[in-house]
Amino acid sequence: MKFFVDSADIDAIAELNDIGLVDGVTTNPSIISKSGRDFKQVISEICKITDGHVSAEVVALEAEKMVEEGRHLRKIAPNVCVKLPLTMDGLKACNILSKEGTPTNVTLCFSPNQALLAAKCGATYISPFIGRLDDISLDGMELIEDIRTIYDNYGYETEILAASIRSANHVKECAIVGADVITAPPKVIKALASHALTDKGLAAFMVDWKKTGQTIL
Ligand code: G3P
Repeated sequence: MKFFVDSADIDAIAELNDIGLVDGVTTNPSIISKSGRDFKQVISEICKITDGHVSAEVVALEAEKMVEEGRHLRKIAPNVCVKLPLTMDGLKACNILSKEGTPTNVTLCFSPNQALLAAKCGATYISPFIGRLDDISLDGMELIEDIRTIYDNYGYETEILAASIRSANHVKECAIVGADVITAPPKVIKALASHALTDKGLAAFMVDWKKTGQTIL
């Protein structure tokens, strides 16, 4: 399973990349706004940290303009992936850009039928939002399962990029149902390494090792 970082925090992305946990990065207009930084500058810096796809989202609402913005964003770096909203215009732009060989990420997916349309329009990634469905008492993970079934039924190559991930448990469930990619904030990715018994066990090993009076180096 690929790990994408859902963030525009350069230091946090670089830190996770150094550990070997970054296969790509996703951003959206809210993440860029929160960073307080210049959109194209941030995307350029992220693209230098990772060779993986870096999603940069268009803000036009009409297909022709989306395509124009997408082509412009692609000039920033070869690994820019153009992120498009799941609307009829977004799908049309996805179809045009995909045929040009541009990687595309269709975002704001909340239903299996939306995911089916994105696959038909050649999306590289579909981004179903788990947390936002859970927020309104629906089952975000059921959406991932349904999309997996549909894509496997027909052999669609669009990758399921599970987004709006809020917890380590979401990551585990995505891995179990077969999402191709998860994108999560740095704090969620870091939380995957934590376990109380790991901390307890390590502390006990250190105490016992000290008793031996030995050193390794
Ligand atoms: O990048 C899209 C997505 O991951 C947003 O997550 O937590 O704002 O629902 P969230």
